[in-house]
Amino acid sequence: MTFPADRPATWFVTGTSRGLGLELVRQLLDRGDNVAATTRSADRLLSALGESTGTERLLPLTVDLRDETAVAEAVRQTTERFGGLDVVVNNAGYGFLAAVEETSADDVRDMLDVQVAGVWNVLRATLPILREQRAGHVVNVSSVLGLTSVPGWGLYCAGKYALEGLTEALAGEVAEFGVKVTIVEPGYFRTDFLTTDSLALPRDTTDAYPAIREMVENHLKLQGSQLGDPVKGARVMIERVVSGEGPLRQILGSDSHAYATAKVQALRENLDAAAGTAGVTDFASA
Ligand SMILES: NC(=O)c1ccc[n+]([C@@H]2O[C@H](COP(=O)([O-])OP(=O)(O)OC[C@H]3O[C@@H](n4cnc5c(N)ncnc54)[C@H](OP(=O)(O)O)[C@@H]3O)[C@@H](O)[C@H]2O)c1
Repeated sequence: MTFPADRPATWFVTGTSRGLGLELVRQLLDRGDNVAATTRSADRLLSALGESTGTERLLPLTVDLRDETAVAEAVRQTTERFGGLDVVVNNAGYGFLAAVEETSADDVRDMLDVQVAGVWNVLRATLPILREQRAGHVVNVSSVLGLTSVPGWGLYCAGKYALEGLTEALAGEVAEFGVKVTIVEPGYFRTDFLTTDSLALPRDTTDAYPAIREMVENHLKLQGSQLGDPVKGARVMIERVVSGEGPLRQILGSDSHAYATAKVQALRENLDAAAGTAGVTDFASA
């Protein structure tokens, strides 16, 4: 049990002016915890929180997550203000919908800068604190699309698969220091994720992929009818950290569970099909 029971916990949460991040900040402040909330716009965060949420324990931090120095400074300000750090939530992320061949080099760099290099900047700045105090929890918000990939989501999935890979390794590395790690895998949640404020699209498209154009249109129309409730999603994530109990992967949403189950079945079939032939490349045993 590493979550502090005798004092307010201090959380460092990225991507907080909208969606799941905003809801996490709201609920954490309502619990009486301390929250360092990174955002690209502190004004947007404060106006989204409104009057009903007490902000005495909030440290809004305008940070470009791609800037390692800025991230380190944000973490320094967090420990200076609150005297420590208990939980890190790498939540910032955005969708990008295009065929693989329509995805530019800049699109790739932008996505991986935020979803991989940005997370790594946060981890490099925070892990020494958690490791040395031999307590803490890292929550990396992935997606069910960190487990399974579909046409039109290649770049987003590349970022989330990378996040899953580094997070699995991290969990194994820091367990001996008493630091817990959770990968969160939401399905569709009713946040701003599928609005044009958040979702990115390619600059140029070809007419070779009408099914992808149709998929994009359908996803923009999904806004407001996604299955996942961000209030419940944030609550379940907080409960997971407070209890310290649960598997590495936290599936959020019955849609996520169904997609993940289908992926596991497909992998099983793939492994079974390879069982008789995988060994043909082995050296003959001496
Ligand atoms: N909603 C879903 O259906 C869904 C499904 C699976 C996974 N997820 C994941 O859940 C996390 C939260 O997303 P959400 O659903 O809450 O979406 P959201 O409402 O669009 O919020 C995304 C947050 O990420 C930050 N962000 C977006 N683009 C960014 C960029 N280029 N650089 C830095 N920060 C950026 C924003 O922070 P600021 O504007 O404050 O900087 C924003 O608060 C993301 O990692 C997303 O991939 C969402």
